[in-house]
Amino acid sequence: MKNYNISLLGGDGTGPEVLIEAVKILEKTQSAYGVNFTFTENDLGGDRYLKSKKLVTEEDISQLGSSDSILLGAIGHPEVKPGILEQGILLKLRKEFDQYINLRPVVLYPGVETPLANKGPEDINFTVVRENTEGLYAGAGGYIHYGTESEVATQESINTYKAIHRCILYAFEYARNNNRKKITLCAKTNVLTYAHDLWERIFYDIAKDYPEIETDYGHVDAVCMWMVKNPEWFDVIVTDNMFGDIITDLGAMIQGGMGIAAGGNINPNGVSMFEPIGGSAPKYTGKNVINPLACIAAASMMLTQLGEEKYGKDIEDAIIETAQKLDSLSAGKMGLSTSEVGDTVLESIQTK
Ligand code: IPM
Ligand code: MN
Repeated sequence: MKNYNISLLGGDGTGPEVLIEAVKILEKTQSAYGVNFTFTENDLGGDRYLKSKKLVTEEDISQLGSSDSILLGAIGHPEVKPGILEQGILLKLRKEFDQYINLRPVVLYPGVETPLANKGPEDINFTVVRENTEGLYAGAGGYIHYGTESEVATQESINTYKAIHRCILYAFEYARNNNRKKITLCAKTNVLTYAHDLWERIFYDIAKDYPEIETDYGHVDAVCMWMVKNPEWFDVIVTDNMFGDIITDLGAMIQGGMGIAAGGNINPNGVSMFEPIGGSAPKYTGKNVINPLACIAAASMMLTQLGEEKYGKDIEDAIIETAQKLDSLSAGKMGLSTSEVGDTVLESIQTK
């Protein structure tokens, strides 16, 4: 029997509702996989912030840091000014636990509708490896003459050898271990002639140790174009923090939307955090209409990261089966409620 301590961050809006479905599935299937989860709930989020002005406390860090993994619902509250919770909670946790990879699979499952004409599951199947600690997200910059007409604001992109190297190395290892044939570096070497020149040099240097993996390069604007026109060209994409943020929203849309898209904030040697990437969708809160598949997919990714590959794969297969039964993946249009979707996934695993 393997024991795992999992921290649960329901967070805001529909976060807790989708998280409950993922937890329900883990609780009811764990024994069949020789696994025992101990769940610890943490009330971090917008509601707590509004009541107490507390974002991430020392106790939060020590509680989350002592767990094997973190499963997150969503962070984002309509009554809190944009930026506070994002910076103060989500980005803070990514940095605090040095979750230096943001892993986002873009896979179109059979029977799921994509907005791309004439494209199917055989065309849309790649993974984005996004650097998750620096670039424009490093928080470097400031104001001069704030609030005047002479104001100057800067926000610098920080690119260190160390962070780029470990990110690209992870992407190549990921490709090798997952039987992926090709890696595309997505950058902007024609404009970011220092920062992305460094990315490019490290990329081709590491590539020498992976002769079986084909390398390719695309400027970020062209990558957006090809993701729409020829998504079958991509297998693994490695990119910086900001570009990774942008192209993975595009990726989520071509794989069927926020109802299904999941990601992992990964520290391969520490505590990782898995999340549906769709946000807190406050207008659907408490209505039992939000799609929990993305959060369940995040749980499946978590299992894979913990080394429970078979368990993770079985949940993914159950998600695929369930997705085919829904009218749509969008909130309110699924033909089933949030909890019924969770039940359907559960039944599908249990009848395997
Ligand atoms: C994401 C989100 C975050 C990001 C926001 C909420 C700070 O968009 O996980 O992609 O930009 O990384
Ligand atoms: Mn984003």
